[in-house]
Amino acid sequence: MDRNIRTVEDVLRLLDDLFTPQADRWTSGAADWWDTFYGDRSRAVPFFVAKPDESLASYLDRGLITPGRALDLGCGPGRNALYLDSLGFQVDAVDLSPTAIGWAEERARETGARVRFLQGNAFALAGTELSGGYDLIHDSGCFHHLPPHRRISYLSLLDQLLAPGGHYALTCFTDGEAGGSDLPDAAFYRDARLHGGLAYSPQALRRIFSDLTEVELRRMRDEPPESAYFGEPFLWAALFRRDA
Ligand SMILES: C[S@@+](CC[C@H](N)C(=O)[O-])C[C@H]1O[C@@H](n2cnc3c(N)ncnc32)[C@H](O)[C@@H]1O
Repeated sequence: MDRNIRTVEDVLRLLDDLFTPQADRWTSGAADWWDTFYGDRSRAVPFFVAKPDESLASYLDRGLITPGRALDLGCGPGRNALYLDSLGFQVDAVDLSPTAIGWAEERARETGARVRFLQGNAFALAGTELSGGYDLIHDSGCFHHLPPHRRISYLSLLDQLLAPGGHYALTCFTDGEAGGSDLPDAAFYRDARLHGGLAYSPQALRRIFSDLTEVELRRMRDEPPESAYFGEPFLWAALFRRDA
């Protein structure tokens, strides 16, 4: 007999297990899937380019954020973490995939960057390897791969790790476009899969991150191939601030 639910974390794990193992993109068990994804670097995946998000660059250009301690959540091969390092941030960057972290470390060696790359589940590492007081928490493309119930873990991570007065920058799937799924939250549990990731409306993002103050929420600019920046119009670029 299974009567193991005692804590909120027990409930979150139970909900994780409602998804088929093949659908998992967010727990430690998903590392193999992401390793295969990153295994072939020649694939035409838009974010395989070694370019930072145009939105991140624009926050810096306009002085909306300034160098300090930064955390890149779900950093992949490290393009945004390396950019932040080049501008004087002290950067921690975490990803589930050993292959992505290996690629990011290679890029760091090539450029002499000093990012602290960590392989593992960000939620498990929060409070241990990742300790608080980040002036910037940045997420390009990780949040939208989480099932709805893991927003609870995500908000708790922000609460734990974002410094008062610090900024949170998010890039995620827009609603009504190819890329993310517009299905309602409950449908993902019924189908036991996330349909490639969750789309968000601006209203949904404002509600989810309502403990923070919105600085900017806009569609990402479409960057041409010759641009020094990454930008796709099917993504939102949002910047929030935690009150000091
Ligand atoms: C769409 S990729 C984006 C990679 C990178 N941010 C970029 O834009 O180039 C999403 C990444 O989130 C990572 N990820 C998903 N869940 C995670 C978790 N719980 N902890 C750490 N990384 C996670 C995956 O391994 C994957 O590399």
